[in-house]
Amino acid sequence: MNTRTDRAERGIATAIEILQAGGVVALPTETVYGLAGDALSSDACAAIFEAKDRPLSDPLIVHLPSLDWLSRLTAPSPLAFALAEKFWPGPLTMVLQRSPSVPEIVTAGQDTVAVRMSAHPAFRSVVKGFGKPLAAPSANRFGRISPTAAEHVMSELGGRIPFILDGGPCRHGIESTIVHVLEERLQILRQGPVTEEQLREFAPVFHGPAGVAAPGGLKSHYAPRTPLVIADRPISRGPREGLLAWSNAPEGFAVVERLSISGDLREAAANLYGAMRRLDEAGLDLIVAEAIPQNGIGAAIMERLQKAAAEK
Ligand code: TXA
Ligand code: MG
Repeated sequence: MNTRTDRAERGIATAIEILQAGGVVALPTETVYGLAGDALSSDACAAIFEAKDRPLSDPLIVHLPSLDWLSRLTAPSPLAFALAEKFWPGPLTMVLQRSPSVPEIVTAGQDTVAVRMSAHPAFRSVVKGFGKPLAAPSANRFGRISPTAAEHVMSELGGRIPFILDGGPCRHGIESTIVHVLEERLQILRQGPVTEEQLREFAPVFHGPAGVAAPGGLKSHYAPRTPLVIADRPISRGPREGLLAWSNAPEGFAVVERLSISGDLREAAANLYGAMRRLDEAGLDLIVAEAIPQNGIGAAIMERLQKAAAEK
């Protein structure tokens, strides 16, 4: 398949046309690029799984065009509404009881569904123009590094999907925070740009295994092909080792990527996947990732590094 990219303005109409015809398109969001299809069409969702080589046991996130869809697809509690009011549109995904209108393939047969509303202007234009919810997992092959630029989508899925809407680099650069909204508590399933500190203002927060099998919760994920280790004080021990440096770059590594020269965690998150991808393409034997301070969004960055470092 010949994959096209297009500049945002013109591309929005193209994306909507393909979605209306039951196809899939890659769209920018404020977190990472997503591979979108009609969430209410099992066939379109099947095409998403196929393009990504994603196992059908891994449920999809549904992106809503507007808040009224929350009650149409889920049974939202007052806590869910409060979170939506504070963080939507934005990088928070809520796992809630699903309504019967959500196809089984979206939820992998579970009785919950993950929903969010993207703040990216191009994504919003497409989902509003389409007028229905869009299922959109990250636009990478299963288990690989999420794409934070249109070129990354091209290298992951080029030839497998008809169209990539180029919205430039993603602002946050790591995937949305996923929270399972319980009666009076919040279970963080994946850390992200909305931090635990922010969530704690709404309800007690705990971490724990998803009551559901959530492969974003798998030990190994977001992984480069090159082996990766995390070190508090990185030292190069071989000629073909690369460094993913947090702020200051120790010497001696063949290739160095610095996440934030000024030590800004948000900037580091935005640079993370692009830097990992470049190191992965540099033909190295090993990537050494410097440990990141775990406050704020730093916890979400470390979660990604730990998954990238885990045994496959
Ligand atoms: O920022 C994001 O969330 C991006 C953009 C494109 O929206 N999307 C994204 O989707 O990261 P994906 O599919 O790559 O990751 C979603 C994670 C998966 O690990 C999936 O297992 C989990 O959400 N998930 C989906 N539905 C779930 C559910 N009902 N219960 C628990 N986990 C769920
Ligand atoms: Mg993903």
